[in-house]
Amino acid sequence: MKFDFTYENPTRIHFGKKAIENLKPELEHYGDTILLAYGKGSIKQIGLYDQLMEIFKDCGKKVVELSGIMPNPTYEKVLEGCRLVRENDVDLILAVGGGSVIDCAKAISLSAYCEGDAWTRYWINVEPLTNEVVPVASILTMAGTGSEMNSGTVITNEEQKIKMGRIYPAMVNPRFSILNPEYTYSVSKYQMVSGIFDMMSHLMEAYFAGDDDGTSNYIIEGLLRSIINSAGIAVENPEDYEARSNLMWCSSLAMHPLVGLGKAQDWEVHMIEHQLGAYTDCAHGMGLAAISMPYYRYVMQFYPEKFARFAKEVWRIEEAGKTTEQLAAAGIDALEQFAKDCGMVLKLRDLNTTEEMLPLIANSTVLGGGYKQMTPEEILNVLKEAF
Ligand code: NZQ
Ligand code: ZN
Repeated sequence: MKFDFTYENPTRIHFGKKAIENLKPELEHYGDTILLAYGKGSIKQIGLYDQLMEIFKDCGKKVVELSGIMPNPTYEKVLEGCRLVRENDVDLILAVGGGSVIDCAKAISLSAYCEGDAWTRYWINVEPLTNEVVPVASILTMAGTGSEMNSGTVITNEEQKIKMGRIYPAMVNPRFSILNPEYTYSVSKYQMVSGIFDMMSHLMEAYFAGDDDGTSNYIIEGLLRSIINSAGIAVENPEDYEARSNLMWCSSLAMHPLVGLGKAQDWEVHMIEHQLGAYTDCAHGMGLAAISMPYYRYVMQFYPEKFARFAKEVWRIEEAGKTTEQLAAAGIDALEQFAKDCGMVLKLRDLNTTEEMLPLIANSTVLGGGYKQMTPEEILNVLKEAF
């Protein structure tokens, strides 16, 4: 391992068809008032809302609701949740939904008792967290972001046109998360494959940086192979429990710090996508898919050996008769073909993007990169290719 690290996973995971049975005993550890945070209605359609209300009643809990959390949750929505927490002296925020709902709940946890403007203090200035945080727990209904088992919270400030992720280790990790793969059966194919690319992207962001040959690389290759295998099955049959359960667990692992410990990482695709999201409100995973192909085809030249390894170990492409560069290119071709076969959107023009937005996105993206420190001009070129 190249770098030293300290590792802790403070989220207890209850996984499987009967995972919800753990909710009641978990709730006993918290006070009487729960803020139930959810999205625009899918939890009612799948019957989960009614089931939860029964459990809350049984436990004698008072429930305050924050509904209508939108994909790419806004800071305004976070502030609405903060007011509910303070007015009702909330003891636990229970997020039920996908990454957007969980991220919004974590942001409320950080911000409710923050003095001054939490956006400026935590997302822009990255100040140390000193105020009280409200415990968060989650029930995951869509696989992709990994928010259920990490301390990340990605929020969009609509006024400032900035979508920004922040990590406050351990403080905003869900205390527990309930993962029943059956809850994901009702996710649309569009959102399911968006989530699939998101989890793959988290792994590739950790993979394509540094020249180390450590354990992280082998973990990442294994997880990518599992996702590719299960994705093919789930696209054909969304109710294949084995495939949906593999995808759900891979999504939690893919965005978990464990995966990239001790290794250099990239994350520039995510930085570009976040600004794309701020301008277009597109589905996160679809934005990543569209950006990834031109980005990797560009940065590949700066370290083709790793991309060649990706082709061999993840896509099982024959090495014989190919130069390192040809093998590297074949790996990204395979990724693109996989994305097409799954029905992912690969052009920004199909993701609410206009040509006029491209320089605005390029100029507001946080600069970084694994094998190549990117400039705004290079990001603009990637965006033009993706358009
Ligand atoms: O609002 P509802 O009705 O719940 O519908 C949602 C939403 O429309 C729907 N959905 C979720 N579960 C469903 C379902 N529909 C039917 N049946 C179900 N069981 O799916 C739609 C998308 O949900 P959303 O939560 O937005 O998707 P996702 O999980 O992809 O979350 C995306 C957000 O997470 C951030 C993204 O940037 C984006 O804002 N990320 C968070 C990360 C983290 N915390 O570590 C890392 C990621 O890289 C990512 O940036
Ligand atoms: Zn992501």
